[in-house]
Amino acid sequence: MSLLDYHAPEQLLDGRIILVTGAGDGIGKAAALSFAGHGATVILVGKTSAKLEAVYDQIMAAGGPQPAIYPIHFGGAVARDYQNMAQKLDEEFGRLDGLLHNAGILGPHSPVESTDPDKWQEVMQINLNAPFLLSKYLLPLLSASSDASVIFTSSAVGRHGRAYWGAYAVSKFGIEGLMQVLADEVEATTNIRVNSLNPGATDTAMRRQAYPAEDPSGNPQAAQLMPAYLYLMGPDSRGVHAQALDAQT
Ligand SMILES: NC(=O)c1ccc[n+]([C@@H]2O[C@H](COP(=O)([O-])OP(=O)(O)OC[C@H]3O[C@@H](n4cnc5c(N)ncnc54)[C@H](OP(=O)(O)O)[C@@H]3O)[C@@H](O)[C@H]2O)c1
Repeated sequence: MSLLDYHAPEQLLDGRIILVTGAGDGIGKAAALSFAGHGATVILVGKTSAKLEAVYDQIMAAGGPQPAIYPIHFGGAVARDYQNMAQKLDEEFGRLDGLLHNAGILGPHSPVESTDPDKWQEVMQINLNAPFLLSKYLLPLLSASSDASVIFTSSAVGRHGRAYWGAYAVSKFGIEGLMQVLADEVEATTNIRVNSLNPGATDTAMRRQAYPAEDPSGNPQAAQLMPAYLYLMGPDSRGVHAQALDAQT
């Protein structure tokens, strides 16, 4: 059965506190709106404040629970910034029931030999190091939940390498590794489930950047993927753990 066949009850995420990275655009925006639409208090994390504020306004206009906004630039943030974020969220919420690692950049499309080392580092910082640091400092809050779900966002090129996808592909392989290591660590002692999800081709700014010659109307909108995200974030996926999943199969 495809994860997209899942039918989420309207109140699926009532009372849950869920952090979404990259919540201002693309798949993260759709996820934030969808989670809030199903009752969650969403912590909107991302780079561009104006985009996060627009999502905040949309959630409030729809009558959803009041979200929180946390702008942060993963490219420049250091460990202390993530520690501060975790401390503030602890003071405000005391726990976290969901964490969607979604923010990411494509980086340069080039052969390894001609890849700019600084660009490589930037992709690793945003796509892999940031999810590591966030996971590390948010684990105590996730452990305080009776039913927490962590979703790492993967990609087809993070499961099978492809020429010229360079740092992006390697960062996603790293994401799969981080997912497996973390899943194994928390399995016996916490109520946290940890999985990775490959959304598959989706009509967003990133997809248009990656495939400029493609007709974007052939790809699903981010909102159409939400059954998969709701399933993994909500209680119906209890017991699904350490899996590398695909939204569109
Ligand atoms: N779209 C696809 O076809 C596809 C396929 C496979 C996997 N994915 C994965 O799905 C996830 C979402 O992709 P998308 O297509 O929705 O991309 P997108 O539309 O480009 O959105 C990316 C999000 O990440 C945020 N972000 C980028 N750099 C950041 C930084 N330095 N600090 C904090 N936030 C930052 C962006 O914020 P700003 O807008 O403020 O920059 C934006 O909200 C990514 O992990 C991507 O690798 C996408």
